[in-house]
Amino acid sequence: MLLLIENGTVINPGDGTELKADVLVEDGKIKKIGPKQKMKADRVVDAAGCYVMPGFIDMHVHLRDPGQEHKETVETGSQAAARGGFTTIVAMPNTKPVVDNADVVNYVHNKAKDVRRVHVLQTGAVTRGQRGEELADIEAMVEAGIPAISEDGKTVMNAQLYREAMTLAVKYDIPVLSHCEDVNMAGAGVVNADKAMKKMKFAGISNAVEDVIIARDIMLAKDTGAALHLCHCSTKDSVRLVELAKQEGIRVTAEACPHHFTLTSEDIPGDDANYKMNPPLRTKEDVQALKEGLKAGIIDVIATDHAPHTAIEKGVGIKRAPFGIVGLETAAALVMTELVNQGYLTVMQMAEKMSYNPAKILGLDKGVVEEGKPADLVVFDPKKQYVIDPSEFYSKGKNTPFAGRKVKGVVMATIVDGKVVYEK
Ligand code: DOR
Ligand code: ZN
Ligand code: ZN
Repeated sequence: MLLLIENGTVINPGDGTELKADVLVEDGKIKKIGPKQKMKADRVVDAAGCYVMPGFIDMHVHLRDPGQEHKETVETGSQAAARGGFTTIVAMPNTKPVVDNADVVNYVHNKAKDVRRVHVLQTGAVTRGQRGEELADIEAMVEAGIPAISEDGKTVMNAQLYREAMTLAVKYDIPVLSHCEDVNMAGAGVVNADKAMKKMKFAGISNAVEDVIIARDIMLAKDTGAALHLCHCSTKDSVRLVELAKQEGIRVTAEACPHHFTLTSEDIPGDDANYKMNPPLRTKEDVQALKEGLKAGIIDVIATDHAPHTAIEKGVGIKRAPFGIVGLETAAALVMTELVNQGYLTVMQMAEKMSYNPAKILGLDKGVVEEGKPADLVVFDPKKQYVIDPSEFYSKGKNTPFAGRKVKGVVMATIVDGKVVYEK
């Protein structure tokens, strides 16, 4: 089976090259990159006017499977990922039951294999049932193939327990993905703690809720030598703390989500829970700091925190609705529109933050466009403009604050192991 992707501009963050070339794919691998391949291919994808980039890798997705299949399943989440240009997604463990043992890891991995759309990697919880009391069966989950541990959705508030988990992560050579939120300080908060939100009489979540745990986790990483990855950084001081930690040589990486660098709490139009997520939308200063942090390379990764919920659950107002918005099908366009077109990132940096760096952090042989490497690719048209319409989402979740927003950048095709799994 020969696949030819022709007339595109190849973006390879592996060596920083950008060149007009055709990409020939055989048996799931990139066979040849070069000018006009005269091969007779079984299938041709025309990439004229498009970038041919390494398939995006989303380190932060909630698939809700097992247990909440009304919100999303491995299948619908994989379809949404493919439509968003993602060829690998990393699923968080806050499902029902929690992914805290090898059986649930195997369940998700087997389901993903049946679906055969994108690569799905299931993370393991840090503590049993995410109750924060005792460690989950991390060793068995490592044997089952988890790429990382994470308590996402929650914070391991017991620092000693987290320290033990980090020590195990060092032993098994996997990163720790940290959701940073002091639960006691967060209290009943639902939006950012600022003037605008106070006016709307919503309980607030201060920056310190996030910052104190980021500082703590950095110190735990320093203490244990663990590779710490900070999920969904949203505050200006999170960027400063990560910068300091990196200067000290501590093994820390950081991620930001499209909603956090695109919207502020002032964009919340009223009591609309499609603007409710954790951490919350912050202020202009925070947004600016995230953009500068991305540009400066302090923030390594762009991930979605794709968190599908039903319209009924989201329809009850900000106070009572669950936290979270979907992101898989809007991420690439938002990165293009908000960061690349505004001069914060080059397309090469976009590929680094959406593919190359996640691959590195997770220890995957992916994230490059090079001969001999797995053909996980995305064909992305950076110029095409459109209006985001949730009714077009493949995800079961339509909960997005970006409905009606004009963006530039369309995923034209997604290729996994040499197979076209999505084509517009
Ligand atoms: O907004 C969020 N939604 N933040 C989280 O930490 C959890 C996630 C979810 O699972 O819905
Ligand atoms: Zn989280
Ligand atoms: Zn999350």
